[in-house]
Amino acid sequence: MADQAFVTLTTNDSYTKGALVLALSLKQHGTTRRLAVLATPQVSDSMRKVLETVFDEVIMVDVLDSGDSAHLTLMKRPELGVTLTKLHCWSLTQYSKCVFMDADTLVLANIDDLFEREELSAAPDPGWPDCFNSGVFVYQPSVETYSQLLALLPSRVVLMVHKSGDQGLLNMYFSSWATTDIRKHLPFIYNLSSISIYSYLPAFKAFGANAKVVHFLGRIKPWNYTYDPKTKSVKTESHDPTMTHPEFLSLWWDIFTTSVSPLLQQFGLISDTHPHLNVVGSVSSFSRHGVFGALAFMILLYPQKKRKERWEQGQADYMGADSFDNIKRKLDTYLQ
Ligand code: UDP
Ligand code: GLC
Ligand code: MN
Repeated sequence: MADQAFVTLTTNDSYTKGALVLALSLKQHGTTRRLAVLATPQVSDSMRKVLETVFDEVIMVDVLDSGDSAHLTLMKRPELGVTLTKLHCWSLTQYSKCVFMDADTLVLANIDDLFEREELSAAPDPGWPDCFNSGVFVYQPSVETYSQLLALLPSRVVLMVHKSGDQGLLNMYFSSWATTDIRKHLPFIYNLSSISIYSYLPAFKAFGANAKVVHFLGRIKPWNYTYDPKTKSVKTESHDPTMTHPEFLSLWWDIFTTSVSPLLQQFGLISDTHPHLNVVGSVSSFSRHGVFGALAFMILLYPQKKRKERWEQGQADYMGADSFDNIKRKLDTYLQ
């Protein structure tokens, strides 16, 4: 199976932690496929060396953006450029078939059966199920597809219609996904986003036990939390949607502390007295100040505009700022 691979992407040291946990979770569940990671030069040399110990192949790529930075700035979506880097995965023609997985996904069971599917197979997006979510997809590397996707990048129309990075662009390119072939609709358990757990708890209770891949979709990632190695748990607050099912977060951290921390220590990236704390350059304020830091960030610094953007992206904070009570209160003030 040397010509098939799981592929992920990281553009910095924080997402590299996610990529490492993902790869180790794939190995833990006995994958027979190769593991490849696309990394950009912003990933530090030491972290790159750690990647090399876990992945079969580390492929250096340039950050891909739309080539239209003025327009992106106008749309106030500078991060679009970064996720578009994902498109480089079509250039890996040394493989005949691949499964791309976001660095914020975690594998809970063997998913090698995904290689029986054809391009482009993906699960529905929880926010807009007629679109697929681009966090997990089966694809076929191809010079032709790669160049056609890159050719779409400068298209203002594409970016204006889909203000959502690679996911919008890929849905536009593979536009028949929604209607043409049901075999290309992966079951949701192959890309269970944490967002769906609290937005449809009864379904999660019925089907969640079969989950094969968890996707920590959204702004706050597993590595942003504070982990208590003594209790083997993650500190979360009641407003936090992941609170509904913190086991997945604990599982992520369990792999991190057991298998990633020793590697980071080996490469001098974290201290051995606090192996659970990130002391690499890109320490996030969330991991240093815990969930109170995150809360303060949301209340004090997170502008309303950003919240509106996230709402429009289907990433509403149902249990917090966008909870029913808060929305009702807002509506009441308008009605008065
Ligand atoms: N990514 C990255 N660096 C970034 C942002 C994103 O490497 O600064 C990659 C990473 O593989 C990540 C994917 O792009 O999993 C998609 O971004 P993210 O998972 O943050 O989006 P979400 O799933 O939360 O919408
Ligand atoms: C989506 C997907 C992610 C993608 C991002 C930008 O929500 O989860 O994989 O990279 O948004 O399109
Ligand atoms: Mn993601």
